[in-house]
Amino acid sequence: MEDAPIQAPYSRHVFFCVGQHCDPDGRAGALYQRLLPMLGEFGQYDNPDRIKRGVTACLGVCYGGPLMVVYPEGIWYHNLDEYKLARIVEEHLKGGQPVEEYIFHRLGDHSPNGTGW
Ligand code: FES
Repeated sequence: MEDAPIQAPYSRHVFFCVGQHCDPDGRAGALYQRLLPMLGEFGQYDNPDRIKRGVTACLGVCYGGPLMVVYPEGIWYHNLDEYKLARIVEEHLKGGQPVEEYIFHRLGDHSPNGTGW
């Protein structure tokens, strides 16, 4: 029997899309590189409240980038820049309060324009 992998505890997981359709200028990759220093202790592996992070080739939206989604809430942010990302890190990822003005969708929102909350 093979050993199961071990996952260290964490509180949230974020993904940036680095696909060229939603971000043809490649800004998401640069924002992703900025995320770890912004996270401070929330980026440390041994912190059970750490924020896991990653990039993906497509999130199935394909415009309005740079895009980032935050789980477990399933909150989607669009047209990010460094200022917006810094606010999201402080207010949402560290503080638990999503930044409403940058959100375009939430997991479970079935309204036609994604504003059913
Ligand atoms: S290329 Fe970014 S969501 Fe599809």
